[in-house]
Amino acid sequence: MNQVPDEPTVPVPPTEPDSLASAAAGEASLPAASGPEGGAAPQDEGARETAAVAPRRGLSRRGMLGLFGAGAAVGAGAGVAGTIGVQRGSGATSDTTVYPFFGQHQSGITTPVQDHLHFAAFDMSTRADREDLISLLQDWSYAASRMVAGLEVTAKGAVGGSPEAPPDDTGEALGLAASGLTITFGFGPTLFESDGVDRYGLAAKRPAGLTRLPAFLGEDLQLDHSDGDLCIQACADDPQVAVHAIRNLTRIAFGRARLRWSQLGFGRTSKTTADQQTPRNLFGYKDGTANILADDETALAQHVWVGADDQAWLAGGSYLVARKIAMVMESWDRLRLAEQDRIVGRNKGEGAPLSNPTGAENDDPDFAALSATGKPLIDHTSHMRLAHPDQNNGIQLLRRGYNYVDGNDTLGKLDAGLFFLAYQRRPEDFVTVQRSLSVDAMNEYLKHLGSGLWAIPPGAAEGSYVGAPLFA
Ligand code: HEM
Repeated sequence: MNQVPDEPTVPVPPTEPDSLASAAAGEASLPAASGPEGGAAPQDEGARETAAVAPRRGLSRRGMLGLFGAGAAVGAGAGVAGTIGVQRGSGATSDTTVYPFFGQHQSGITTPVQDHLHFAAFDMSTRADREDLISLLQDWSYAASRMVAGLEVTAKGAVGGSPEAPPDDTGEALGLAASGLTITFGFGPTLFESDGVDRYGLAAKRPAGLTRLPAFLGEDLQLDHSDGDLCIQACADDPQVAVHAIRNLTRIAFGRARLRWSQLGFGRTSKTTADQQTPRNLFGYKDGTANILADDETALAQHVWVGADDQAWLAGGSYLVARKIAMVMESWDRLRLAEQDRIVGRNKGEGAPLSNPTGAENDDPDFAALSATGKPLIDHTSHMRLAHPDQNNGIQLLRRGYNYVDGNDTLGKLDAGLFFLAYQRRPEDFVTVQRSLSVDAMNEYLKHLGSGLWAIPPGAAEGSYVGAPLFA
């Protein structure tokens, strides 16, 4: 979780080139992918060959072999000596849910929220140039497309390579299935321009809204939990699968980018599909009740997916805001239940709006409703009211945050809170809601420790890599 010194070395691929040909030849097929984000199922071999010659900028050698080899039919590669391109785990008890890597939008946004998160922010190495950045995105896309399918990062993986070389894959996910893993990549403002320097020839393509977020009340931001040239959100229903993904992507980046900070999360604090039960945050309240859902195409188009009014390379993408928000649990836990409810604007048991406490979670709040003594039933400073679209020009955010507990301090207080993640079509939408929350009664129990904003490119086309249109 801490910053590490910049690596002085040139890029070192995790796989020896001579092992790659057999890796591609011996690959097992990708499981059929399914998901709500417009991702395509693996194409047939002919389509892949067409894709191989079509892109203006090809994949790196390793990426190309992986991406096109990864979908090869089992029959084509099975039995080739020395290859172990098999699924890591597929037992009856394993979670074999696979979400697509390729498609219109990146997975991990409207995908049904998984239970575990490993989030990481990276900075490019000072010596890395534009070609290094492109090759990094190609190699990351290759490895990610394999891992989300439950495969190791290369066909040789953890134990199929030379005993004299470090293994391509670190191995801790051997035996574990895909577990609904999604890997979502983002580009921070500093990738486009850093201290006035256009390191990668991208300054002209920086979206106008992609700048460092403004300062907000109640912040105590720490550099080691803020910003970054690149980010990766890895979500899975098995924590070890998410950690394995970030660990191996960090390793692949060696010499080109280094880990700046990372955060583990558990117990999702939102839902993105109607059939998911609304989870609870560490204050004990249902969180995610009024979230944008995956099947609400109108709301997604209006509030989440970038349209034609922004940079063309970002169309179909989104913007991600991450906020590490510490929650002062000990003080919160001493509050009367009625006071907790007043601060949230909903009751603790059902999650019903306080305008009708005996009602149901999904009832619409009535902000005009008054008590017998003439006081608003939903307090004006309640979190729910201030965050509601009615108070924010109709703005909605797609929230996808997680609880975190990073141990405790020397006084025995939990170091815990909410790792808030929200996807929106315009960064200023988040700014509007966060400014509205400046008078939130909940603020007394919160401290914002980390912050970051990234442009989330659309999904990679089959046979290409995430962010390719940015370099076209
Ligand atoms: C630790 C910090 C936070 C906690 C504990 C928290 C908790 C909650 C809870 C319990 C709800 C009501 C249930 C629901 O509709 O999901 C809610 C709603 C909401 N929160 Fe937060 N929240 C936090 C931070 C934030 C931040 C930073 C933002 C955005 C700037 C935000 C935006 C929203 C929105 C948009 C809603 C839905 C309001 C509605 O339409 O009814 N929250 N939050």
